[in-house]
Amino acid sequence: MAQSHALAMALAFAAMFAIATAQPFMFEAGKFQTGVQEAAARREDNYSGFVFNFNDAKPSAADDTPNGNLILNQVATNPFLSTLPGDGNGQTLITLGPCSGNTPHSHPRGSEISFMLYGSIEFGMVEENSGQNRLVIANITQNETIHIPTGIMHFSFNYQCEPAAFLANFATKDPGTQTTWNSLMRIPTHILNSATTIPERLINGLKQFPQVTAPGTGGEECLRRCNINQQTANKLTPLNATELLP
Ligand SMILES: *[C@@H]1O[C@H](CO)[C@@H](O)[C@H](O)[C@H]1NC(C)=O
Ligand SMILES: *[C@@H]1O[C@H](CO)[C@@H](O)[C@H](O)[C@H]1NC(C)=O
Ligand SMILES: *[C@@H]1O[C@H](CO)[C@@H](O)[C@H](O)[C@H]1NC(C)=O
Ligand SMILES: *[C@@H]1O[C@H](CO)[C@@H](O)[C@H](O)[C@H]1NC(C)=O
Repeated sequence: MAQSHALAMALAFAAMFAIATAQPFMFEAGKFQTGVQEAAARREDNYSGFVFNFNDAKPSAADDTPNGNLILNQVATNPFLSTLPGDGNGQTLITLGPCSGNTPHSHPRGSEISFMLYGSIEFGMVEENSGQNRLVIANITQNETIHIPTGIMHFSFNYQCEPAAFLANFATKDPGTQTTWNSLMRIPTHILNSATTIPERLINGLKQFPQVTAPGTGGEECLRRCNINQQTANKLTPLNATELLP
């Protein structure tokens, strides 16, 4: 009896471990044990994702705003990518309307290499502490490529009154995204106070503002120049005050 209990526990533990390790991938790493199985899966799927047409693909609700959107050719949207060996690769097509940008964020599991398709944008990243948190920022236009290391916070902004687009490429099928501001606002108020000395009432005030779902439209000078209404151009997600205060 004790033995079968031990076995059951070992199996349960193994199952938990399998879930924990498989979780980052929707179509999941470890689903295919060998390259032969990956090839078989591609064949069974009739190579449906061999060609990925961004014109036919739709942005997810969270990534679609009135003034820009993100369309993913990643493991969650293209089954073909789930059959790539190792880390595989993936892409995101980012379209930014006037005065619109990709809000500050980082990718926990993949370096990014982004190619400018049309228009012109400002693209920046903030270095890690050992790089003295240096702000590295530049305007890029068509045919230029930007490199962002894994985990480094970065952002973009379209100053022009016309749309711009770039293609982000990742050396992984599942780079993940962490939106910096939204994440910061989840931190208890007293911790943010201890980190900054900003009075808690001001921090709670910041926490009352809605989150902007990427891409975000703003920049007061740009909004005036391009005659854009920030409220209607953005997709605003109210913060859950119950969850955040303090
Ligand atoms: C692949 O194509 C075959 C032949 O046209 C069809 O029978 C099968 O259902 C298709 N499989 C998938 C997963 O679409
Ligand atoms: C990018 O271009 C805009 C508009 O021309 C300008 O205001 C901004 O300072 C430039 N940014 C950088 C980093 O050069
Ligand atoms: C970008 O590259 C393409 C292909 O070489 C070229 O036709 C186009 O003129 C380039 N764009 C700019 C702004 O240089
Ligand atoms: C807000 O968060 C609280 C606590 O987690 C939860 O009980 C409540 O359902 C949430 N409300 C909304 C509107 O999501």
